[in-house]
Amino acid sequence: MKIAILPGDGIGPEIMAEAVKVLNALELPLELASAPVGGAAYAASGHPLPEATLALAREADAVLFGAVGDWKYDQLPRHLRPEQAILGLRQALGLFANLRPAICHAPLTHASSLKPELVAGLDILIVRELTGDIYFGQPRGRRPAPDGAFAGADEGFDTMRYSRPEVERIARVAFEAARRRNGGRGGKVTSVDKANVLETSQLWREVVTEVHRDYPDVTLEHMYVDNAAMQLVKAPKNFDVIVTGNLFGDILSDEAAMLTGSIGMLPSASLNERGQGLFEPSHGSAPDIAGQGIANPLATILSAAMMLRYSLQRPDAAARIEDAVRQVLAEGLRTPDIFSEGTRRVGTAEMGNAVVRALKR
Ligand code: NAD
Ligand code: IPM
Ligand code: MN
Repeated sequence: MKIAILPGDGIGPEIMAEAVKVLNALELPLELASAPVGGAAYAASGHPLPEATLALAREADAVLFGAVGDWKYDQLPRHLRPEQAILGLRQALGLFANLRPAICHAPLTHASSLKPELVAGLDILIVRELTGDIYFGQPRGRRPAPDGAFAGADEGFDTMRYSRPEVERIARVAFEAARRRNGGRGGKVTSVDKANVLETSQLWREVVTEVHRDYPDVTLEHMYVDNAAMQLVKAPKNFDVIVTGNLFGDILSDEAAMLTGSIGMLPSASLNERGQGLFEPSHGSAPDIAGQGIANPLATILSAAMMLRYSLQRPDAAARIEDAVRQVLAEGLRTPDIFSEGTRRVGTAEMGNAVVRALKR
């Protein structure tokens, strides 16, 4: 099984090193091949997603991705910015289904900024559509404003759009996930949109409702995104599976991360129609803490577990990693983002080493 390892920028290489340690410790027949991506690739070869990196990702059975982005590249033209690497990979590989599980592990009940009783036992799944919406809609660009009070003024514009088949396939992913999480039947899907204002969302709501007819055992509810943002911090355990578009999903998943204790805990899987996937933490390159050896590697390590489960058909190995993570948390090891009185503060590498030790027990 060939895995493309794309560390990227900022904390990317630091957290990836720990995930690689964990993968190696499994002693599986995995062939890891790494390549530059993001700002690191731009610096080396003038493009954030070089041909060779894309080719490696295409031919691999799965991609493990760190993070991209750095303040020093923020002034580059958009097509050369580090973020284009991850957007380009998602588009080139057709990775339309982004699964972001927000699980509050028992020892971290007090690490969340919410009251412990609100998050204790939390286990929800955000299904974010990843290749459509305002992220990729055309036309987009800059122009003089065509009309209105500010006609002629410098204007930026983007297009929010979804087609019926795009909504259908992501809705199916969500309904199937609800069933899988609830023993093969049942569960609840909350479809999040802004149908009271947007045409895109009106279509989204219609199509999700139609697809639901094939899943009568699953409960479907619709919720406006502003309310969903509020409900997520009011009563997060009322959710089971959330399905939503690219932009709303981006925002709600960072919000949901804090229910688990830290953005450093939230893994993700991005899957295409062939089941091939890219796996990455939901967070970014954290330039504010890069190079200090204090980033939480667990989101990346848990993403490697998702890779074993979803793309490499090794749920046993995935469960071993998840179990090892639970053990180190139970032992009280914490990177600074989840540290609190009475626990043991460790750095990135120490956390990775502890997961490896737990795996071998
Ligand atoms: P971010 O997720 O990188 O960081 C937000 C905050 O969370 C920061 O304070 C950071 O220190 C903290 N944080 C993030 N991951 C952490 C971890 N593993 N352990 C401890 N703390 C962690 O978001 P941002 O600051 O808005 O963006 C920084 C850069 O990352 C930008 O260039 C952005 O475009 C990029 N980005 C990339 C990805 C990706 O590669 N998929 C995702 C999000 C943001
Ligand atoms: C994420 C990130 C990306 C997104 C950026 C870096 C393009 O925020 O993976 O959540 O918006 O999808
Ligand atoms: Mn994001």
